[in-house]
Amino acid sequence: MRTLPDACIDLIYIDPPFMTNATRSTASGQSYDDKWSGGIDAYCPFLRERLVEMRRLMRDSATVYVHIDHRVAHHVRLMLDDIFGVENFLNEIIWSYRTGGVATKWFGRKHDTILSYAKVMGRHTFNSLRDGTYRTDGLKRADDGRLFKSTKNGPVYFHADGPLVTDVWEVPFLSTVSLERTGYPTQKPEALLERIVEASSQPGDLVADFFCGSGTTLSVAKRMGRKWLGCDVSQEAVEIASNRLHRIEMPVKSKVETGSTTG
Ligand SMILES: C[S@@+](CC[C@H](N)C(=O)[O-])C[C@H]1O[C@@H](n2cnc3c(N)ncnc32)[C@H](O)[C@@H]1O
Repeated sequence: MRTLPDACIDLIYIDPPFMTNATRSTASGQSYDDKWSGGIDAYCPFLRERLVEMRRLMRDSATVYVHIDHRVAHHVRLMLDDIFGVENFLNEIIWSYRTGGVATKWFGRKHDTILSYAKVMGRHTFNSLRDGTYRTDGLKRADDGRLFKSTKNGPVYFHADGPLVTDVWEVPFLSTVSLERTGYPTQKPEALLERIVEASSQPGDLVADFFCGSGTTLSVAKRMGRKWLGCDVSQEAVEIASNRLHRIEMPVKSKVETGSTTG
C-alpha cells in the first residue's frame, strides 16, 4: 500500500482476520493464522495502521467496506469513526446466514458485520440496488402490469424491480459443494461482493482488496468490468486468486507479482 500514490482507488473491501483464534488451513497446508497473543491490544494497531493507509489511497468519491464479526465489530467501529470521521459513516450491514454451529447457552450467532464509510460523505459513489419481493399483503396488479396497493389516499404503486436493498442482507453462505469453492478457507460468496461492487463503483473504476484471500472481490470486480488490485500475506492465497482471475475471460490486462495481484 505504501508504494501506491494518494487517491488512486475507487472502492476498497477488506475481510481481514478478526480474532477467531483459529488456524485456517487448506488441504495443501496452513494458509494463515488468526491468533493474536497480545489479544485486542495487538489486533487493533495491526488493523489501524492499514486502515490509515487505505484512507490515503481512496479518492474523494471512494467507499471502504470492512468485513468483521461480533468478536471485534465494536472495536473496529470506533477505530473507523476515528480514522474516517463519524460524519462519513454509511452503513452497518448485517450479512445474515443460516449455516454454522448450534448454540444452547446464547442465541445462535448467525451474522457478520460489514461497516462502510465514505472518504467524503456526499461525494461518494452510490448506486441504489433493488432486490427481492415486497412483503406487503394485498397487492394488486394494474392493467399496465404495475403492482399497487389501495390506500385511503388512492393507489400506491410499487417499483417493478422490487424493494430497495436495506442494510440486512440474506445471502447464503457458500456450501461445501458450491461451484464457486476454491478450497481456500474463509472464502466469501460472490453474491455478497456483487452488491458491494455494483452499489459503490462504476465500470472502469479501480476496486481493491488488501486481504484478498481466494480473490473473491477481484474476480467479481473483473467480471463486472472494473479494474482490480489485491494482495495477501499468504502465497497460497495469491496463487489461488491469480488462477481464479485468469479463468475469467475479460478484456482487462492483468499482471501478477509475488505477494500481490493487480489488474
Ligand atoms: C478472511 S480471509 C479473506 C477471504 C477472502 N475474502 C475470500 O473471499 O477468499 C483473510 C485473509 O487475510 C490474509 N492476511 C492476514 N494477515 C495479512 C496481512 N498482514 N496482510 C495481507 N493479508 C493478510 C490471510 O492470509 C487471509 O487470506
